[in-house]
Amino acid sequence: MKTNIINRRNFLKSTAATGMGLLILPSGTLSGASAPSNKLNVAMIGTWGRADAHFNAISKENVVALCDVDENHIAHAAKRFPRAKTYIDWRKCLDQKGLDAVICCTPDHNHALIANWSLNRGLHCYMEKPLAHTVEEARIVRANYLKQKHKLATQVGTQRHAKPNFERVRELVKDGAIGELTDAYAWGNRQIRRPSYPPAAGKPPKNLHYDLWIGEAPFHPYNPDYFKGGPGMNCLSWNMYWDYGTGQVGDMGSHTIDLVWNAIDAGLPTSAEGEGEKYNPEVTPVELHTAFDIPANNWRGPIRVHWYQGGMMPRSPKGYVDLNKIGHGAMFKGTKGYIICDYDSRIVLPFGDNADMTYYNKRSRVKIIPPLGHFQEEWTRACKTDLKTHCDFEYGGNAIEMMLLGLVAYRVGKKLDYDPVRGRVTNSAKANELLSRKLRPGWTMNG
Ligand SMILES: NC(=O)c1ccc[n+]([C@@H]2O[C@H](COP(=O)([O-])OP(=O)(O)OC[C@H]3O[C@@H](n4cnc5c(N)ncnc54)[C@H](O)[C@@H]3O)[C@@H](O)[C@H]2O)c1
Repeated sequence: MKTNIINRRNFLKSTAATGMGLLILPSGTLSGASAPSNKLNVAMIGTWGRADAHFNAISKENVVALCDVDENHIAHAAKRFPRAKTYIDWRKCLDQKGLDAVICCTPDHNHALIANWSLNRGLHCYMEKPLAHTVEEARIVRANYLKQKHKLATQVGTQRHAKPNFERVRELVKDGAIGELTDAYAWGNRQIRRPSYPPAAGKPPKNLHYDLWIGEAPFHPYNPDYFKGGPGMNCLSWNMYWDYGTGQVGDMGSHTIDLVWNAIDAGLPTSAEGEGEKYNPEVTPVELHTAFDIPANNWRGPIRVHWYQGGMMPRSPKGYVDLNKIGHGAMFKGTKGYIICDYDSRIVLPFGDNADMTYYNKRSRVKIIPPLGHFQEEWTRACKTDLKTHCDFEYGGNAIEMMLLGLVAYRVGKKLDYDPVRGRVTNSAKANELLSRKLRPGWTMNG
């Protein structure tokens, strides 16, 4: 009798698809998510900086491919994963046979491409935030994911989501601690000002494949300023330039809107508005306020959602509460009061003469939302078992689509009516043009 010789990749896929994650093989060998034979074959695209934050969790799997446009950064990861094959072009890396999953920690502008190419090759995908660079990209990635949701696990890298406070805030909002929810606000105070793209300055060092770093984005000449940040912080050297990032919208905005998104069960908005500093065609705004109409769902009415950054802030409900003391935070307004929070803590402010908390339907201990656990490992576990993660490409795709639509509204300078089914603005042709971008020849969004 043929015993437990089973194609490892098919095993991973079939157990994930059926949600089993545990299999008794004919020989009687017990195999499952924690069995050595059940390790994922993972490619890491982007192998330095933010990638370092994945090394410990992913070293429990087989890291079989490393890809980076900087050969020194490949060497950095190869010390930890010496058996992996190495690549400088992520398109070639994704062709490696036998891959199961991809972790991508490259700059923002190529996230949607790498997500699409991974999903289209049947690979599970963990994508660092932000998931996309334009509204259209967010929609393409989400659609690709939804087609394959029954067999692929995805996670957007908003790892703060694992902090228990996220669910405590959700419970307060859902259980009516502030009555009926009407508005939600999130903000961030990071301010990195640049006048324009840096000028041409010298030649890229030999270890850096600069043309691949540019990838599908418009070409700007090399300047070492794009690469001057320390590990995990270098994104602050390029993410404010329109062609390579979306400024604080995609950066801290991805994390902080997540505090709101987790609590409101939102679909896509039906309108978007934006205001802020004078538009600079080269550099994303520091000061920005965007606002959205979000339709009702089965537990709340329609609400307004706001994002503020760079010093623009929502009004505090009480003079004695200084919201500016919260660098990255959120606030929820209901008919009976406010919740004010950051990633780790929260306060409830009942408001008005009738705010006696009798309406608050506090949940029992058994109904407290269980902890998520380790954020990256939630994804590796999901790849092998039930495919379920908290920040999959539908959840994260919706959030970033809204945030990026806000940037379009800011650029157009008027309130946009949005058809979320078609992904089109119905009252501005100019806005529709800004929902997507043109890729450099030779690059494909959905390859
Ligand atoms: N989740 C978080 O808390 C968090 C924190 C920091 C950064 N990030 C995100 O991680 C990403 C990377 O940020 P970073 O500061 O590490 O940036 P970085 O500029 O240091 O780039 C990371 C790595 O990607 C490599 N790289 C660049 N282009 C590539 C390409 N086309 N193919 C393969 N490798 C490429 C770089 O050489 C580098 O080794 C950003 O999208 C950022 O938003 C997330």
